[in-house]
Amino acid sequence: MAGKVFFSVSMSLDGFIAPESMEGFLATPEQREQDPRLERWMAQWMELQAWMFPQRFFRENLKLGEGGEEGRDNEIARETFERTGASVMGKRMFDGGEQAWPEEAPFHTPVFVVTHEKRDPWERPGGTTFHFVNDGIESALDQAREAAGDRDVRIAGGGATILEYLNAGLIDEFSIALSPVLFGSGIRLFEGVDAGRVALEPVRAEPSPRVTHLTYAVRER
Ligand SMILES: NC(=O)c1ccc[n+]([C@@H]2O[C@H](COP(=O)([O-])OP(=O)(O)OC[C@H]3O[C@@H](n4cnc5c(N)ncnc54)[C@H](OP(=O)(O)O)[C@@H]3O)[C@@H](O)[C@H]2O)c1
Repeated sequence: MAGKVFFSVSMSLDGFIAPESMEGFLATPEQREQDPRLERWMAQWMELQAWMFPQRFFRENLKLGEGGEEGRDNEIARETFERTGASVMGKRMFDGGEQAWPEEAPFHTPVFVVTHEKRDPWERPGGTTFHFVNDGIESALDQAREAAGDRDVRIAGGGATILEYLNAGLIDEFSIALSPVLFGSGIRLFEGVDAGRVALEPVRAEPSPRVTHLTYAVRER
């Protein structure tokens, strides 16, 4: 049986999944050290994702060392990983990750990057292979479903790519880790959503001491 198509992101309380400029995302650690704006970008990003860093699963998956928290946040991080048989992402998310992910990228499954750039598959140790898809979001999703088998397909991000899938009616379910931070500006998750088409049904809300996890099923109006 085919799995679901879902996304799962951290969002600021005022609706942003990343601070404004992509420069901070794409900057090297050295560039960030020399430019306070880029430092600020990273500080905001770290605040948004702060719930994730101490989790045992996150630390294990990125080989950051033993130990870590083992509460509901950790279970959610692990469940999200385990349900995912393949991921799809936009090229800007990939560009940032290409610099930031360790050699053993943290997906351990095929990843399909929607892009205009033509590039051969990029195989990393540990089971992640990035495939670059030039013929649109539906083709990327078909390939991801095929690769995922019975497991689910995660639309990993970023905002533009998630919105394309949402507006095309291709998302079954999504989860948001609502972080207690305010950005004021940035990449807004639902900017441009087709509100006439997308209706939501609450599935669950789970508060943890760090964030509030919200899950919705997507229905067509
Ligand atoms: N908070 C979270 O949990 C979370 C999770 C993931 C990502 N993010 C953030 O999201 C940000 C990136 O998101 P974004 O919205 O700027 O960009 P994005 O969705 O990652 O990538 C958009 C790019 O992907 C390519 N693309 C998308 N759809 C395409 C299509 N149908 N055909 C061909 N190419 C297509 C295009 O690049 P080309 O034309 O160059 O190929 C497009 O400019 C980053 O700052 C990242 O940190 C946050």
